[in-house]
Amino acid sequence: MTDRLWIRGGQVLDRSGLRVADVFVAAGVIERVSSGDQSFEDVATGYKELDASGCLVSPGLVDMHVHLREPGGERAETIRSGCRAAAAGGFTTVCAMANTSPVADTPAVIRLVQREAELAGYCRVVPAGAVSIGLAGERLSPMAELSAAGVRLFSDDGRCLQNAELMRRALEYAGQLDCLVSNHAEDANLVCAHGGSAGEREGVMNEGAESARLGLPGRPWAAEAVIVERDLALAEMTGARIHVPHVSTAAAVEAIAAAKEKGVRVTAEVTPHHLTLTDAACGTYDPAFRVNPPLRTANDVEALRSGLRDGVIDAIATDHAPHAEEEKERAFEDAPPGMIGLETALSVVLTELVGPGHLSLENAIAALSWNPAGILRLDMLTGSIEVGVPADLVVVDLEAEWVADPSAMQSLSQNSPFAGKRLKGQVRHTVSQGALVYSDGAFPREIA
Ligand code: DOR
Repeated sequence: MTDRLWIRGGQVLDRSGLRVADVFVAAGVIERVSSGDQSFEDVATGYKELDASGCLVSPGLVDMHVHLREPGGERAETIRSGCRAAAAGGFTTVCAMANTSPVADTPAVIRLVQREAELAGYCRVVPAGAVSIGLAGERLSPMAELSAAGVRLFSDDGRCLQNAELMRRALEYAGQLDCLVSNHAEDANLVCAHGGSAGEREGVMNEGAESARLGLPGRPWAAEAVIVERDLALAEMTGARIHVPHVSTAAAVEAIAAAKEKGVRVTAEVTPHHLTLTDAACGTYDPAFRVNPPLRTANDVEALRSGLRDGVIDAIATDHAPHAEEEKERAFEDAPPGMIGLETALSVVLTELVGPGHLSLENAIAALSWNPAGILRLDMLTGSIEVGVPADLVVVDLEAEWVADPSAMQSLSQNSPFAGKRLKGQVRHTVSQGALVYSDGAFPREIA
């Protein structure tokens, strides 16, 4: 079910730049982009008019990294609730991670995710496939079958693939399938305090002056750097494409920059929380700030920002990781790592990065939209607002201010590190495949 929409008088931003225009949507695609020619507007009856004056109109946002938790974790999130959160946040495509229960290591789980997402109808969902069976890091998943079922990206996210030989083979197979491998880059032994074996006495925050002060076990920056360096070497050797998820350290930014310089086929993403928060936030002992990889230092934040500005980092992804209240609301050390992010990502980026001039609006939207679409090879998402392309769009009021309130969000979970934060810039409308799925706080298709 699609809508006929007249998105009127907005500042249209796409990969070709910024202009003021009216955008008409019909039959699932952009029907017309007009700037001033009245002839069409005069006969534009039967279109729902959305006043976008003073608003940004851009291609829908694409999040390469979300946890929708279904199957198996439905108390924290369902595909439906996660997709509603995506629509409310301006995202029209999300890539759903494989660490569900059962794990997305069979075509049957991939099909389940696709089916539920289609039924929900709020956004496109591209399921990620597990690299290893059961995320155990021992045997490769049936990658060809998973790719035939629609997988573009393979990841054991949440778990780092420790076995370098398995990683090499994953890259080789994925390369043949024209898919991407993304490895959670934290050495499983290094993140354990005092040389514990993998999984034992894991650090719960960045290792450094703050963790020493708080008396909490840390995860050192080098745990990320050694895996990123290793994986870049493997990508160079195999010639396959590799994607580095949630980059959190200056060292990783430096390694990725050097690899790009050499021609290694690497792309990278960074989260809004790693771009804006430091390990000082853990001083509250609020479990909302526990995440893997952990929040780092101000120096790392600066490196991530300049990496994004310089194109070393290609995409902003949320790593939306919902956890049910009864799981997350525990002592910092006992709480599971992860933060929700779909409904705050755009506003946090606008408020903390674009507003103060750390990042241009064009760079921000590229990193949130057409860059990740390109990495995932979603060819229909061209990043252009022009006649004939699928109508995946977001309308954002750049001046509106609001306070992030997790209890009012669409996600089933409330573990946001931005709770109570005043934000500037708010999603007003989201159009997914030609349907107005979110509009001024409501979901019009549900009312109809
Ligand atoms: O903090 C995290 N939580 N990091 C991950 O990589 C996984 C995620 C989760 O699934 O909860």
